[in-house]
Amino acid sequence: MNLTEYIESKHEEHLNDLYEFLKIPSVSAQSEHKADIERAARWTADRLRGAGLDKVEIVPTKMHPLVYAESLRAPGKPTVLFYGHYDVQPPEPLDLWTSPAFEPAIRGGNLYGRGTADDKGQVHIHIRALDAIQKTAGKLPINLKVVIEGEEEVGSVSLWDFVNANRAKLKADALVVSDTSMLAPGVPSITYALRGMNYYQLEVTGPAQDLHSGVFGGAVPNPITILCELFAKLHDKNFRVTVPGFYGGVATLSKAERKALNSLPWKASEFRKTVGAPGLAGEKGFTIVEQLWARPTLELNGIWGGYTGEGAKTVIASKAYAKFSTRLVPKQNPDKITALVERHIRKLLPKTVKCKLEVLSKGKPWAAPYTHPFFEVAHRALEKGFGKRAVFIREGGSIPFVTQMYDTFKVPCILLGFGLPDENAHAPDEHISLENYFGGIQAVAQFYQGLGSL
Ligand code: BES
Ligand code: MN
Ligand code: MN
Repeated sequence: MNLTEYIESKHEEHLNDLYEFLKIPSVSAQSEHKADIERAARWTADRLRGAGLDKVEIVPTKMHPLVYAESLRAPGKPTVLFYGHYDVQPPEPLDLWTSPAFEPAIRGGNLYGRGTADDKGQVHIHIRALDAIQKTAGKLPINLKVVIEGEEEVGSVSLWDFVNANRAKLKADALVVSDTSMLAPGVPSITYALRGMNYYQLEVTGPAQDLHSGVFGGAVPNPITILCELFAKLHDKNFRVTVPGFYGGVATLSKAERKALNSLPWKASEFRKTVGAPGLAGEKGFTIVEQLWARPTLELNGIWGGYTGEGAKTVIASKAYAKFSTRLVPKQNPDKITALVERHIRKLLPKTVKCKLEVLSKGKPWAAPYTHPFFEVAHRALEKGFGKRAVFIREGGSIPFVTQMYDTFKVPCILLGFGLPDENAHAPDEHISLENYFGGIQAVAQFYQGLGSL
């Protein structure tokens, strides 16, 4: 049996194994899941060992352990670093899931469950591809280093210490990541650019304590109203961010790149359907693809304060809060953007309130050429796995590790995404299509095999 036939013959085994992984609620943001996080790390380590990686370590960190593995038994062959994450986003709100978040279920050709797309399902694609190569060829065709972390969804806090302490160990000819999406069903995609992200929390304080809104209302500042006014002012009528200097120096797409991106096999009608809102809202003067992939944004992610429980409580809250983020594109500097945002917010807020702005994380954008011969191998492998030519895309999400590794080592980063635009990552009913999952295993196996034949 050749590699392709072997993978094909094991569909049921692939899925049953993935179910085990998905059933572990490895939610990195919630401390009650600490034991599950550790279980997921052990599970990952165990499977990497089974797939032929001979040196496998669970590395403790200040927060969640990461799994490091390597197999360096192919002298003269390329060395590849594969990165992924075993942690997942919180499943809440639970009542919006059709089937429970940690009980994988198949419906309509999709596998549902937290982590199916982001990122356990995609990590598993690589584990199964390596396992299949190991079982059919008896050895791995390239030198492989693997980092699977448990803190990606909370900002990869401990990863930098590990990277800085292990620079030589992590050196590779290329970085390979599957934590992104395909442009559309049946359109295999290689991502060559991601946006960066800064994440902020703002606290606005008015009165020194909560006040009776009848006794005090009319004469005192209301921090919730003031917070709403502030955020209403951060965009203009053309959906442009009003922070002075925000767009300063933003890289514009070349004519050729704009043409290439806007002629991808992508349908605005599909995008509208996925969004499901009565209408879209984006920066004037740019196509949707440009808005998502090549333009910076400022998004309010959460806002709270005052009374939100049952019934009525006539109160003027002392404090109001917001979490918000900026997505950054090439030539924007995260530190500079932070300073500009802070200065503008302080200028807009009235003197009747105090404010505290915290920056929870910062991250640079990434965009890189895709000319290295490894990309040709990836392209051919995706075509073999999906029966269709792959396209090169940018994406709007952020993966801190990719940016960091590219900045540090300047090696090609090959992002093979097997999610889909409607996958509901970070939302209820997250899923991966079975076609992408099985096609992904075939494609990734071809990719590693192909690198071994260079
Ligand atoms: N896998 C995503 C990133 C992603 C998704 C990139 C789709 C491209 C397409 C990753 O797990 C993620 O959610 N990243 C966070 C950033 C992180 C610092 C919390 C994000 O993009 O919000
Ligand atoms: Mn992810
Ligand atoms: Mn994610």
